[in-house]
Amino acid sequence: MAPRALLAGNWKMHGLQSAVGELQKIIAGADGLPKLDLMVCPPATLIAAFAKAARGSRVLIGGQDCHSLPAGAYTGDISAEMLKDAGAAAVIVGHSERRQYHGETDEMVRTKARAAHRAGLLPIICVGETRAERQAGSALMIVRAQLDRSVPDDLTEVVIAYEPVWAIGTGLTPTPSDVAEMHATMREWLGRREAVRLLYGGSVNPANANELLTVANVDGALVGGASLKAEEFLAIAAVYR
Ligand code: PGA
Repeated sequence: MAPRALLAGNWKMHGLQSAVGELQKIIAGADGLPKLDLMVCPPATLIAAFAKAARGSRVLIGGQDCHSLPAGAYTGDISAEMLKDAGAAAVIVGHSERRQYHGETDEMVRTKARAAHRAGLLPIICVGETRAERQAGSALMIVRAQLDRSVPDDLTEVVIAYEPVWAIGTGLTPTPSDVAEMHATMREWLGRREAVRLLYGGSVNPANANELLTVANVDGALVGGASLKAEEFLAIAAVYR
């Protein structure tokens, strides 16, 4: 049986307190979509307010990154425990923008995933090849290596998001058969961890959602730009109606 679908919105560095209205529209729309889990990952400054607004609804709130330690002298950082305390249920770790702009390595991502688990959060671990790696024909090998090093092997409560770096924010997407090949590889890599959800991410929008999200072994999506507007996010979710 396929795992229950998850649609997670990654708001990145977008959103002020006034954005709670958009969340409320998503919460209202969630009632008509009982077949999937919905999640919004706003910037850290909005987690508490969003968690409060979403309490009792079917919409989960997640963070976008966490430190590996519970507390300490790490100016500007936020621990998994703090996200949990603010009302988050999950946290994205190892997004390619963190890997690229903050020098996060696979090993750091794995430690963060463990930290999330320690704090009672669901880690959403991101992997994905660059354009050069895809063109060189090494996408599968690269992603397998990222999985080996970024996903703690004893963790069963985890979500993995395949996000080709070249597809993020570009409007470009892999073909459904490339997604199928990658997700089959990831599913095989997981072995007996059959309940782990495999998300696709990278330029998902209402127009391409059906073709990308109905691919075998795709259990949902991690959506950036199109998750900022409730209408678009819900239109993507409608694939699971
Ligand atoms: P995008 O971002 O949907 O805007 O391409 C996806 C992501 O970075 O998670």
